[in-house]
Amino acid sequence: MSESVQTFFPSREVARRANIKNMCEYQDLRLEAEENYEGFWDRLARENIDWFEPYNKVLDEANAPFYKWFTGGKLNVAHQCLDRHLKDRKNKAAIIFEGEPGDKRVLTYLELHYEVNKTANLLKNKFKIQKGDRVVIYMPMIPEAAITMLACARIGAIHSVVFGGFSSEALRDRVIDAKAKMVITADGAYRRGKPYLLKPMVDEALKEGCECVESVLIVERNGQDIDYVPGRDYVYNELVENESPVCEAEPMESEDPLFLLYTSGSTGKPKGVQHSQAGYILWAQMTMKWVFDMKESDTFWCTADVGWITGHTYILYGPLAVGGTTVMYEGVPVYPDAGRLWRMVEEYKVDQFYTAPTLIRLLHKVGADEPAKYDLSSLRILGTVGEPINPDAWMWYYDTIGGSRCPIVDTWWQTETGGHMISPLPGATPIKPGSATFPLPGICAEVIDEEGNKKAPGEKGLLCVTKPWPSMIRTIWGDPDRFESSYFSAAKVDGKPVYFSGDGAVYDEEGYIWITGRVDDVINVSGHRMGTAEIEAAIGNCEKVAEVAVVGKPDALKGESVFAYVVLKGEDTLIKEMDVVQEINKVITKEIGPIAKADAIKFVPGLPKTRSGKIMRRILRSLAKGEEITQDVSTLEDPTIVDKIQASMKE
Ligand code: WTA
Repeated sequence: MSESVQTFFPSREVARRANIKNMCEYQDLRLEAEENYEGFWDRLARENIDWFEPYNKVLDEANAPFYKWFTGGKLNVAHQCLDRHLKDRKNKAAIIFEGEPGDKRVLTYLELHYEVNKTANLLKNKFKIQKGDRVVIYMPMIPEAAITMLACARIGAIHSVVFGGFSSEALRDRVIDAKAKMVITADGAYRRGKPYLLKPMVDEALKEGCECVESVLIVERNGQDIDYVPGRDYVYNELVENESPVCEAEPMESEDPLFLLYTSGSTGKPKGVQHSQAGYILWAQMTMKWVFDMKESDTFWCTADVGWITGHTYILYGPLAVGGTTVMYEGVPVYPDAGRLWRMVEEYKVDQFYTAPTLIRLLHKVGADEPAKYDLSSLRILGTVGEPINPDAWMWYYDTIGGSRCPIVDTWWQTETGGHMISPLPGATPIKPGSATFPLPGICAEVIDEEGNKKAPGEKGLLCVTKPWPSMIRTIWGDPDRFESSYFSAAKVDGKPVYFSGDGAVYDEEGYIWITGRVDDVINVSGHRMGTAEIEAAIGNCEKVAEVAVVGKPDALKGESVFAYVVLKGEDTLIKEMDVVQEINKVITKEIGPIAKADAIKFVPGLPKTRSGKIMRRILRSLAKGEEITQDVSTLEDPTIVDKIQASMKE
């Protein structure tokens, strides 16, 4: 946060068209929620969801923090995203897909409805997938990822999408944790101009401990030669053609789980974040309208992968719930050149473009001149998500991509929050580069201390949400205790535990919220959230490694990079170091995926530990940044270790 930041006001043109036109309208909504919290959510739920059966209670707090919303109500999320649009929008494009090689496919609402129904019937009839069964989806960015997710929603199966960049071991852990009955995957896809394979990763994953999986369904995408296990593996494209395009949408309870999505925490294994039906879809829909100001004729493009929450909410569920057109791109954003995305913005006349600061920095660096080659005048709103955006990248995005005319919505939220929590409203909020600005109406996000006192401007505090909200995480799959201890143990307001995000934040004098980053041991590399504990566990598996500590180091391009301190076993360390570096990265790729590879590995004689054995990560973070150590080191078990580490890092 800097004192001299410039404020950018919404233009008259943007404001005039906007769903929320000025700060008064925003304040009115906030006030409505403040005066009658349940009444506010009740109104939104009644106005925006096509209920099969009405709910009888808006918010049930009896079993806090296991909050329930809209209990007794019945709905179906696939119906909400598809069927209800068939009357007015059946021939409107729902998904515009572009493959990396340049192949295109447009699915209208009617066509998508057909495909989803056929797939739903296939899952139900042939594979006996029932309501509540878990289906793991490990897919590239192709329309079938969306189709299979919606097919699950239609029959009430719980999908768990695993990012295609995760390794077979990471996939295996998630399959086992969810006790998935089925895995849906593809032979492979295209990346950097070449076909790559996904199916062999599934084969590898299912080799051990995955007896729960009865069948594997394979979508043919790149036609590469893959192995088929008879009796387990089936080709989607052949089977789906025999299914009927008529499939009743299963009436689901508001609180039935819609999906699981695994995310990293500060300790141990990834957490299966469980989301609900009604609360999730309601907020996906509201934020599309408010934050992205979605209009009937808009074409919306979110460049995330469906394997992350951003892809779930803002490629699939949000845009379709409001009857919009969503763009989906398969491949690498800089293939065949750094103008790829801008060429697509021009071609599809994209209105809203939503991406991560990492990608903005990359495109700025490798292709600053590219945008000038394309007509980007269709753009009306730009968005960012995943990490704080630095003023340089912000200004380039604003001026060069947005032509100094498009507001940037810097959206703060998390896998656990389901949808945006803190964000500017494009027609209303004066924006400051780098600030996510204010909480959305109905969202009680506050910067507080452990006792619930609101922090004064300039004082860092915990970013908490002090009231439950409909799209919040319901629990951690199979581990309710971890849910409570992870999210509801850091701060209390009026004696009641409140949701803590894991992020720190600070208000400025005008009440703008500035996110200062994670306060736990989670790092954010290129917008990918990873637990240092997970990476440490992987590195710890290398035979020659005695001890390891991983910290995040600020990085100009990726936001943070993975910095590992490694203590080797035995004496002849010099000889070992060379091959250990390779082995470490091999093992990380195998156990997590290439996204978690270490950018720097430093061999050190020991780690700074307190007498009780706790690693002082603060010191390691400072050392990684090359800072002077000002902390008191006298409480360390070995106070000389810091000098020794510094000396070994200089070698
Ligand atoms: C970070 C992604 C600053 C934050 C939707 C959060 C951000 C974590 C922003 C969640 C933002 C997300 N400004 N930091 N606009 N958006 N973050 O679960 O640390 O992958 O806790 O969800 O990303 O990451 P996740």
